[in-house]
Amino acid sequence: MITLKSKKEIECMKYAGMVAYSLLEELKDFIKVGISTNEIDKYVENYIKSKDCYPTCLGYEGFPKSACTSINDEVVHGIPSNRKLKEGDIITVDIGVTYKNMIVDTAYTYIVGSVDKKILELVENTKKALYEGLNVIKSGITLNEVCKTIEKNANKHGYGVIKELTGHGVGYDFHEDPYIPNYSNKDSESIILKSGMTLAIEPMFSLNKEEVWMLENGWTISTIDKSPTAHFEHTILVTDNGYEILTGKRE
Ligand code: MF3
Ligand code: CO
Ligand code: CO
Repeated sequence: MITLKSKKEIECMKYAGMVAYSLLEELKDFIKVGISTNEIDKYVENYIKSKDCYPTCLGYEGFPKSACTSINDEVVHGIPSNRKLKEGDIITVDIGVTYKNMIVDTAYTYIVGSVDKKILELVENTKKALYEGLNVIKSGITLNEVCKTIEKNANKHGYGVIKELTGHGVGYDFHEDPYIPNYSNKDSESIILKSGMTLAIEPMFSLNKEEVWMLENGWTISTIDKSPTAHFEHTILVTDNGYEILTGKRE
């Protein structure tokens, strides 16, 4: 069942979204060569708590930290540690913010120092796929229009689409119906978007092969061939005429 949120609930998600967006913006300056993912995690935890919110990841199904920090070939659910960022790394920070029981989910891939041109383009094009996918959203379209648009962007550049990981509904829970693959699929064809739905759209692309596995820590998903991956995510509200990005601005 896909839930529709009330005006009041959406107001809470907007506040949480504003906190999440400002935080990911501040991280653009904070993330540089030599800082550890634990330092990023502390920054995230302190920032979110200082805004009267809770870091949704912390304790979610036993996840031990406030942010997911996934480096290079790690796609999602990287666990913050003492690992320090190196010149040429890319790192995705994925956060949830809960305000008055309402949740938003957003992720951004940062570049560290000077990065290989192909990897830089992967990051830019994954971000572009998110905004192009969002741009088709309005009440009355099928969900698959979004999935198709994102997939087209990957195909255009020959990137892999990570099939095992998807976007999702969000709000009362971190993960709600529907699941939202980043490729055209039958299930999404039969889902019609309606005003009041809140969705997390999150393309995840790999430079080479898209096959993934889970690391021994039981959380981190990375590409088998060590291919670098990028990931951008926004929580959006479907409206009659289009959509509102709750965790950022239009680009
Ligand atoms: N933010 C992730 C997503 O986009 C979920 C993280 S779950 C956690 O769906 F437990 F790792 F935090
Ligand atoms: Co996320
Ligand atoms: Co998500």
